[in-house]
Amino acid sequence: MNGTSAQAQSQVMQALRADPTSFLYSLSRSHPGKDLVLPNAFGGLRVIQNPATAQWVLSNKDKVFEKYVGFHKSALGRSRLTADGADWRYLRDISQERILAPSSSEIADVAGKEFAAAADSLLRAAPEGDPVLIDDAIDVAAMRVLCRLVFKIPPDMLSNTLAQNLRSIFRLTTMANWTPSALMPDSDTDIARSAQAGFQQLQSDFARLRENNSGFAEDNLLARILNADPERTDPLAEFATLLVAGYETTASAITWILFSLARAPSLQEAVRAELGQNDGESILLHRIIAEALRLFPPVPALGRIANREAIKGDLRVQRGQRIVVSLVGVNLGKVAQEKPFAFHPDRFAQDDTTRRALTSAMSFGHGQRVCPGANFAIKEIESAVIAFLQRLAFRIDATTIGQIEWGISMRRKNGTQLRLSSLT
Ligand code: HEM
Repeated sequence: MNGTSAQAQSQVMQALRADPTSFLYSLSRSHPGKDLVLPNAFGGLRVIQNPATAQWVLSNKDKVFEKYVGFHKSALGRSRLTADGADWRYLRDISQERILAPSSSEIADVAGKEFAAAADSLLRAAPEGDPVLIDDAIDVAAMRVLCRLVFKIPPDMLSNTLAQNLRSIFRLTTMANWTPSALMPDSDTDIARSAQAGFQQLQSDFARLRENNSGFAEDNLLARILNADPERTDPLAEFATLLVAGYETTASAITWILFSLARAPSLQEAVRAELGQNDGESILLHRIIAEALRLFPPVPALGRIANREAIKGDLRVQRGQRIVVSLVGVNLGKVAQEKPFAFHPDRFAQDDTTRRALTSAMSFGHGQRVCPGANFAIKEIESAVIAFLQRLAFRIDATTIGQIEWGISMRRKNGTQLRLSSLT
């Protein structure tokens, strides 16, 4: 990572811009578990891969770091995901209880039904086993689950294309985050145009929900946001952030799990057999979920910025220094000696629950800002995958992961196409 020539600088920036997630995978391959300084990017970008340093940065006990989300903030505004200090605590308290409230059985019931409907609609779209793109149907199902259980608003009031359009916004802002201003895409590109359309749709959906809010469940999460102190809350930003944080990530995880299972039909059969023998429970499925979250962390990296100079071990940061905690690098580095790039659920002990297995990865973050939706997400993912496995067998033609696209979560570029066959 040394050498500051213009050519080296441009190579690093091009790699980051083209596919930042694949760049993080390549850093993990070349320097497993090591913290790095990229002298050629953003004035010496710190990339954290060492789990102990990652814990220090994310626990932020020394109050050195603030959230850094770059252009995401300019697209959506200030919200619980981006604020710090007292502002963050105020915003956290608006939604925390709602995120933690749904019980496992409620999640299993609602997610089971929504993802069964998604599986059935995909099968109807390609009954002869032709390849069918699964991403949009999974996004919509995950958004509906979140509306019903966390927001407590009618999912039919959101446009069906909102999930797809929201992704355009974050594709643009992520691209901008990795692109120095001189390389900013001009506003007349396809991606800028669809991000603009996405933002307009978000605004009009939000206006419709706001108008009809008095008819929704009492004390729904949207009402809480709308009734919060207007001096401290940006309602559209808060709504959009919670929506995106809650469905995009879960949908990403489900899509990566279906992709992984499509590449391993024998694992599909083994899970179905366990579900049949154990009254709908499968320990193997727990380990598959943990393995997918380890290898494909939906949020591949977290951004922070130093508010003062600090030293921790070999890591030295200046005030204003940008830090990237590579969750890809942390998760892969932890098992550097055990084929970290292989999808291998057996690396977890037979009796590991998803939660126990997950403690060896950092896909939900760490410290005070750790994801509050982790338990919700794990149950939703489990119920979604069971709904698919009970209805369908699936195969995939692709043998490699290919390029990755990073919006809020990471996805295969151009999506995931599966060949489905009915089991019912
Ligand atoms: C597989 C699914 C999910 C993954 C991998 C995931 C990952 C993460 C990560 C890594 C963070 C920490 C961000 C940081 O420290 O900068 C986070 C924060 C957050 N997540 Fe999740 N998440 C998932 C699902 C959910 C769900 C289902 C919800 C809501 C129901 C949710 C709501 C949030 C919120 C509100 C925050 C901000 C926490 C704060 O700073 O106050 N997430 N998530």
